[in-house]
Amino acid sequence: MPLKSGVTAPELSTLGERELRERVLSRPLPRHVAIIMDGNGRWATSRGLPRVAGHGEGVKSVRSVVRAAGEVGIEYLTLYAFSSENWNRPSHEVSTLMSLLERSIDRELPELMARSVRFRVIGRPNGVPAEVQRRIDHVVEATAANTGLNLLMAFNYGARDEIVDACRRLARDVAEGRLGPEQIDEVRLGRALYTDGVPDPDLLIRTSGEMRLSNFLLWQIAYTELWVTPTRWPDFEPRDLYLAVADFQQRDRRFGRV
Ligand code: IPE
Ligand code: IPE
Ligand code: MG
Repeated sequence: MPLKSGVTAPELSTLGERELRERVLSRPLPRHVAIIMDGNGRWATSRGLPRVAGHGEGVKSVRSVVRAAGEVGIEYLTLYAFSSENWNRPSHEVSTLMSLLERSIDRELPELMARSVRFRVIGRPNGVPAEVQRRIDHVVEATAANTGLNLLMAFNYGARDEIVDACRRLARDVAEGRLGPEQIDEVRLGRALYTDGVPDPDLLIRTSGEMRLSNFLLWQIAYTELWVTPTRWPDFEPRDLYLAVADFQQRDRRFGRV
């Protein structure tokens, strides 16, 4: 029976990781799962630690969730790592996040290769420290021919920036005579986004309880199923991913139909 959305089915909540994994594998999978990885700061402060300690711990969750998503055969996983608004945080926190990324990205390359993960980044390249960008480019190139999970990291990403950038691209095409205004449609606009070629997310997960989108994939999530958990990102485990997917698999997606 279809469930009321927003409430994880009680019979799923009692299952362990292995049972959930088997269940997930026995039903059609979401092709694309997107995650707003939130709550690192609260995870740390609730333990009397500095907020940045939560970001370090969050990297471990990224590793285990990438592994878990690849193992069940999810095709696309998009992780929101740093928003266009996150520059407004204290400079110490911003620089810690940048150096954490710089360090982890190289360190993860062997595992990404071993699991045939294809890594890409969505977001504005301008404003990203040169060294971070250089390492990102290296990992993107090194993993370009991999055929397993497509891992997209939203970094220096804002959905409104993305839509503005897409409009600029289309406007240039119109101004230079390559495109008529009436030829602009959903497909063309979609192709001008950073996510060109990527199917829209089927499932969007947000950790740490906030019921908001925080400027994430606004165009692409028009018909995405939402799942919010109070669990903070550093505590998020493969079991939580499988729980979200199992819940998704019970949803009744109607796309406006009856
Ligand atoms: C998410 O955790 C990580 C980033 C936004 C980079 P937060 O740092 O937002 O943690 P909270 O939400 O303040 O607890
Ligand atoms: C969203 O989390 C951005 C990322 C997870 C990278 P925030 O913590 O920045 O969102 P708000 O400020 O609570 O909306
Ligand atoms: Mg937050």
